[in-house]
Amino acid sequence: AAEPVSVSIDTSKPGPVINKDIYGQFAEHLGSGIYGGLWVGPNSRIPNTKGWRNDVVGALKAMHVPLVRWPGGCFADEYHWKDGIGARDKRPVKVNTNWGGVEESNAVGTHEFFDLVEMLGADAYVNGNLGTGSAQEMSEWIEYMTSDSKSTLANLRRKNGRDKPFKVAYFAIGNEAWGCGGNMSPEHYADLYRNVETFLRAPAPYRPKMIASGGNDNDVSWSDVLSKQLKRQTDGISFHYYTIPTGKWEVKGAATGFAEQEWISTLANTLRMEQHMQRNSAAMDKHDPEKKLGLFVDEWGTWYDVEKGTNAGFLFQQNTLRDALVAALNFNIFHAHADRVRMTNIAQMVNVLQAMIITDKDKMLLTPTYHAFEMYVPFQNATFLPLTLSNNREYALDGASIPEISATAARATDGKVYLALVNTNPRQPADVAISLPGQQVQAVRGRVLTAAAMDAHNTFAAPQAVKPAPFSAKAVDGKLSVQIPAKSVVVVAVE
Ligand code: AHR
Repeated sequence: AAEPVSVSIDTSKPGPVINKDIYGQFAEHLGSGIYGGLWVGPNSRIPNTKGWRNDVVGALKAMHVPLVRWPGGCFADEYHWKDGIGARDKRPVKVNTNWGGVEESNAVGTHEFFDLVEMLGADAYVNGNLGTGSAQEMSEWIEYMTSDSKSTLANLRRKNGRDKPFKVAYFAIGNEAWGCGGNMSPEHYADLYRNVETFLRAPAPYRPKMIASGGNDNDVSWSDVLSKQLKRQTDGISFHYYTIPTGKWEVKGAATGFAEQEWISTLANTLRMEQHMQRNSAAMDKHDPEKKLGLFVDEWGTWYDVEKGTNAGFLFQQNTLRDALVAALNFNIFHAHADRVRMTNIAQMVNVLQAMIITDKDKMLLTPTYHAFEMYVPFQNATFLPLTLSNNREYALDGASIPEISATAARATDGKVYLALVNTNPRQPADVAISLPGQQVQAVRGRVLTAAAMDAHNTFAAPQAVKPAPFSAKAVDGKLSVQIPAKSVVVVAVE
């Protein structure tokens, strides 16, 4: 038999705190990401609180969502916040030009969004409109949300039902300025950013962390230029990277029914996040060696061909065991870069791209990605622990090759050491020996997420087809060894 993979966790050299915001979500006005999936309005027969679905909110609370980004995405650069306040039946109806050309009722606006995040116990990440907006519009939005004064705008907020200021944890100036946000160069964006940020004057206790909208994929020029030019005026630079099975936007690959070639290519493509983090961090290190700025991956996840028969502008896709592995592999990468990567948002929370939850009218199901997020909850605000992986094999197919086991460890806020392991091989389990030098490992206890098929997924007919199961092992003769099933994610407390 092959020698087991060995995982040795070094508890004597704790690393940075894994910011809970690494587990952030993204909810855009896109398809049924908000309308239908989350918001049904207070008069709906679907049980809701202040218009937000009780079933979906309950499930999101159970996975400890720390942060929600809103209202876009591309949508943010055409969103005018004043359209979304005051009596809902008087709000202007607009066309959502980015996403399917459908009518946007503006029923969900600033107050509704804060109702949602406050119900979730999450923080708010508001994305400002640089594309079709102005410094004045953004500065007035900040004043409306955060001023405790008796200014006309603060009083308008009170008249609309909110006395105390809202807490805006993060505020971004624009989105994808290189594309849907205005097709700019990083230098041009940096000038615009500096100008706008000057006027975003939130009072100190309510000042959000300011985000400059950065680059994507292999382009590190945005991280380079923005960290050099905006150092004194930003708290971080965003970065987007989507995992596409084929690597080509024209034909991306299907969410289900894929061959093993697309299993490995998807996982290989998602693992490229490691290089992206390294390259963008290195670019930022040149101008910000003290790491004051965060690298915020505020869009990531899988992007497949839309499901047949659905509106192409709604970006609706099924979510399988493969997506759960994608999520876990990215978490492991983000943990390893926790000194720089302090916030991320998976795209997107409900019904859009790599969603946590899929709804159909009054029904709801949890996806395998939901379960991966929920299993990793102990890592929120945990302290990173370095580990050494030895004897790790490669899983290879048709010229593609990726490491079989991916692992991450941390000491959680409950004082326990947690270990997460991903077996990328869909055909073979892997034996893994777990040790903590200087300490006797007695047992591991936690859960495993796996299934028989690579594209196993939950449906309304079988909503529990993919869900975590208990997983534990005890040391024998002072040695602890576990078998990690093929195509699985395991999270355990090490005792
Ligand atoms: O998440 C969907 C879209 O992808 C976002 O609106 C945009 O920022 C990105 O291109």
